[in-house]
Amino acid sequence: MGRKLLLEHAGAEGIRYYDVYRKKGGYASVEKALKMTPEAIVEEVKKSGLRGRGGAGFPTGLKWSFIAKPEGVPRHLVCNADESEPGTFKDRYLMEFIPHLLIEGLIVSSFALGSNTTYIYIRGEYAWIPDILEQAIAEAKANGWLGKNILGSGFDCEIYVQRGAGAYICGEETALIESLEGKRGNPRIKPPFPAIKGVWDRPTVVNNVETLAAIVPVINLGGEEYAKIGVGRSTGTKLISACGNINKPGVYEIDMTISVEEFIFSDEYCGGIANSKKLKACIPGGSSVPILPANLLLKTAKGETRYMNYESLSDGGFATGSMMGSGGFVVLDEDQCVVKHTYTLARFYRHESCGQCSPCREGTGWMEKILKNIDTGKGKMSDIDLLWDIQRKIEGNTICPLGDAAAWPVAAAIRHFRDEFEWHVRNPEECLRRNYGLAHYADEREVVA
Ligand SMILES: Cc1cc2nc3c(=O)[nH]c(=O)nc-3n(C[C@H](O)[C@H](O)[C@H](O)COP(=O)(O)O)c2cc1C
Ligand code: SF4
Repeated sequence: MGRKLLLEHAGAEGIRYYDVYRKKGGYASVEKALKMTPEAIVEEVKKSGLRGRGGAGFPTGLKWSFIAKPEGVPRHLVCNADESEPGTFKDRYLMEFIPHLLIEGLIVSSFALGSNTTYIYIRGEYAWIPDILEQAIAEAKANGWLGKNILGSGFDCEIYVQRGAGAYICGEETALIESLEGKRGNPRIKPPFPAIKGVWDRPTVVNNVETLAAIVPVINLGGEEYAKIGVGRSTGTKLISACGNINKPGVYEIDMTISVEEFIFSDEYCGGIANSKKLKACIPGGSSVPILPANLLLKTAKGETRYMNYESLSDGGFATGSMMGSGGFVVLDEDQCVVKHTYTLARFYRHESCGQCSPCREGTGWMEKILKNIDTGKGKMSDIDLLWDIQRKIEGNTICPLGDAAAWPVAAAIRHFRDEFEWHVRNPEECLRRNYGLAHYADEREVVA
């Protein structure tokens, strides 16, 4: 059994409510932190090696140390609860079942960053969760953990929940800030970074839900002890939301020392591939990270065991590796079609592009159309190279990383499953049958001809 820092009390009856949470030791980190200086807390977070759990894995303590402190200007902490990356649902679990863990982490983090007004920006589709969070905030306030002069420390803090309207792009931190300010969620050009000019041009830190919840064990254990859990630069524990063709989909807390094979096949985690099928491929870190075929998923290109941590999952770069990303672990069995799967993702990214930059706005649409043609038996061999070319022209040429997120899945699918794309081009009739069934077969066949 791996160590549990975030989900230790996840199954306990009534843990959603303050009294039960407090009896289990909740809010101890606030008592400890308010006796420290903000600078000392930032140092503990640096020592812990905690990396942002929102996708990029940027060191949290270092990010906190960048926040500007101009005299007389308020600073803000914003919790990114947008969680729209397909395959990712770990933050939802934390907020829905253990909301006080997030509130506790937010109070400590707000104190460390000097944020008297802190926001939780939550995706519109999580329509039932704001009520849960607001109840937890009200309970925390009624018990003296929020409001004025918390525990006599002189520190004031309020937390507000802001609902988004349901757009993937609003998870990107500067689009989120725009949306929080009441505007359309278009990403901003960086620099300036939010640490200098964020919400209402004030210094702002945006962190993921899981990152902020992890501040609680970092403070309770101390940075050095926290850093002893895990391996290398993958310290602490990580939540993984596992889904797809597995026997036990769900949210798991792992300590990042287990192998990918153990995670997929052991009963403690995914419980193996459903219906006794074979493992074909996996997207280990949410829809935007490169897909890996089974052989490169379980072992690196050097033949070493692949582990569930930042370094091991990215071993080999994008040629033969992938990324930990947001921890959305999507498993595909032998019956799944990589072309259709890539087309589905391309459709998503085209729909979610905000349209500010041409490579992303136009390129995502082109990729969707070409993938649809290939998937439905209307593609040409030259389309595969055209797709490759388009994704190359999007990557790195846009205002925000949504362009990269749209390009990487296409690149990885072609890199590892080119034969499957070619099969589609060579077998148009079979593609038609698969997509349209017999009823529409004759009509669609004419289109191919
Ligand atoms: C298109 C796009 C969507 C994103 N969606 C999310 C999201 O839903 N949740 C999240 O925490 N970070 C998301 N991010 C990353 C954020 O921009 C930011 O890096 C993150 O919230 C920082 O938190 P962390 O350092 O704790 O990981 C997204 C980035 C991009 C480019
Ligand atoms: S990359 Fe796409 S989503 Fe990001 S700013 Fe450009 S058009 Fe908008």
